[in-house]
Amino acid sequence: MTALATDRALRGTDSITDRLDAAIAATTFDRPTLVLDLDIVSRNFQALQRGLGDASIHYAVKANPAPQVIERLAMLGCHFDAASRGEIELCLSMGARPEHVSFGNTIKRATDIAFAHRAGITMFAADAEEELEKIAEHAPGAQVYLRLIVEPTGADWPLTRKFGCAPARVEGLLAYARDLGLDAIGLSFHVGSQTRHAHMWSDTLNQVAATWHAVRAAGFDLRLLNIGGGFPAFHGDDVDPLEAYSRDVMAQVRARFGDAVQIMAEPGRGMVADAGAIAAEVLLVSRKSDDDLHRWVYLDVGRFSGLAETEGEAIRYQFETARDGDEAGPCILAGPSCDSVDVLYEKRPVSLPVSLRAGDRVVIRNCGAYTSSYSSVGFNGFPPLDVMVI
Ligand SMILES: Cc1ncc(COP(=O)(O)O)c(C=O)c1O
Repeated sequence: MTALATDRALRGTDSITDRLDAAIAATTFDRPTLVLDLDIVSRNFQALQRGLGDASIHYAVKANPAPQVIERLAMLGCHFDAASRGEIELCLSMGARPEHVSFGNTIKRATDIAFAHRAGITMFAADAEEELEKIAEHAPGAQVYLRLIVEPTGADWPLTRKFGCAPARVEGLLAYARDLGLDAIGLSFHVGSQTRHAHMWSDTLNQVAATWHAVRAAGFDLRLLNIGGGFPAFHGDDVDPLEAYSRDVMAQVRARFGDAVQIMAEPGRGMVADAGAIAAEVLLVSRKSDDDLHRWVYLDVGRFSGLAETEGEAIRYQFETARDGDEAGPCILAGPSCDSVDVLYEKRPVSLPVSLRAGDRVVIRNCGAYTSSYSSVGFNGFPPLDVMVI
């Protein structure tokens, strides 16, 4: 059994998953297309709600900004984590209330802060003095939470280093925010995207709790803990199911921070990844020499048309073809563009049927997150990844 088949066997397939497959099978695509099923998004939201209990769920819009996804989630009562003016406008236009949208990027354009403030957004993230100054000037009196740097945890797609401040800076920044007239309500962190198991949160939560309790002891009235994202999807390695995972994370959070603290989570990947599959096509199968051990398989989708998370071969997508079951062998998998970094998997080749030919369809599973939003506008004249919503 392939890893994907094992995952399906464990989780069970159902009519919703079958519908995604049926839609792909029934459609002729003239370009790589992400097919998204909104009912799977709803199902994930509900699983997260059950697992996270009284935490407020802010969908990380960057994971998949398809208007239909935002509209569906707004209808279900989900809140949103927006990274830019564009994402804020999208959420508001799809029915989200401004007080349910947080501006979670720690690097914001001053004019976008002013726009958000005028639009009624009240909650902003920051990790530096200058950012607090911008917020105080353009969104006076706003609520802010400070993002903390945490140590890497073993997440497949780490988000350390670039964002957040060191724990030793938190007290000073909170005091500065207060002096600027801001309402410094709490802390945020990100455990790293695709943190496959709930137990992997434990060290990070210990780090954050140490800072949280020290800062509270110093007299700062923190009341919000934003636990960010990290909720995983199946990408070949075993992951905990979403509801059990979320429940376990929440239990760990409550054990360290108590029941009175307001918890906010920002799931992106966990909400949408398994709601989408890319219908792609083989453009060429070749060997570089007669004794080449590996075939090169070139797809019509690559690093620049949505599969950016293959950088460092970090996220391992799962491939299905109509020839599965035929004898299989290792392939180097690459995209179609004229850039030599457009190679998806080479260090760890992918096993694909030996019979695979140009023109064959390849379905790439669990691609609903960080694909359409990463697709370039048209490198080499290839159009951005198309999206079809069912
Ligand atoms: C601030 C913030 N929140 C949430 C997310 C979503 O993370 P994930 O997709 O791992 O759930 C990200 C991802 O980059 C992020 O930067």
